[in-house]
Amino acid sequence: MVKDGGGIRPLIAGNWKMNGDKASVAEILAVRDALAGPLADLPADVMIAPPATLIAGFAAALGASPVLLAGQDCHPKPDGAHTGDIAAEMLRDAGAVAVIVGHSERRADHGETSSIVSEKAMAAHRAGLTAIVCIGETKDERTAGKTVAVVCGQLKDSLPASATSENTVIAYEPVWAIGTGLTPTPDDVKDVHAAIRSDLATLLGQEGTKMRILYGGSVKPDNAAVLMAVENVDGALVGGASLKASDFLAIVRTYEAKRC
Ligand code: PGA
Repeated sequence: MVKDGGGIRPLIAGNWKMNGDKASVAEILAVRDALAGPLADLPADVMIAPPATLIAGFAAALGASPVLLAGQDCHPKPDGAHTGDIAAEMLRDAGAVAVIVGHSERRADHGETSSIVSEKAMAAHRAGLTAIVCIGETKDERTAGKTVAVVCGQLKDSLPASATSENTVIAYEPVWAIGTGLTPTPDDVKDVHAAIRSDLATLLGQEGTKMRILYGGSVKPDNAAVLMAVENVDGALVGGASLKASDFLAIVRTYEAKRC
């Protein structure tokens, strides 16, 4: 992934979760065709994280397209006796350039701690993949006024020493906003992203000032422009609305309006 010489080059990443099959290639080809045509000089990177079973086929179908592919999770180890798991190297071999780690659904459904997430991010770096590290508070944590403490704690514990602005992207995803249609206010997003930016600068120095911080959680065509305009929001991690090319492209087009 590349960045502009000046500011941070945004990223719009679609997380398909456990959805899609071989026929879904039509959606990704529609995104490819838009990026080859109407959106050819889009000042943002565009990525889809389909189920792992689809990555190789999608990579073959996409050819030399700017549409990037990502995995949704990886194991910390490069190989071995880990039935059902996928190594970062395998994702890379299939055609991925990035992998999501520490998504709240992985943290909740599979008991993944921030220290495991850090190992997975390190595995991504070892394999030459960008790690998209997800952090976010639950509804109870927000209500208790602990949002920034929780999010910044996860950030510190989930980031491996190998993290740079080139190989790591942060995705702030409030757990209560995922798949619910609810979103924080732009001011709330601004406050949390500012806290993440400040901690990244403390943890990583100059690299932290350049690292992309995505917002995720119920990003839709009708709220994307407002959310993407918030300071320190460098793109989106999109779940449900990434499954249909028309919705995903409507979100991607948010950045078309920002062309210089
Ligand atoms: P959503 O999911 O856009 O469907 O809320 C976001 C995510 O989980 O990454």
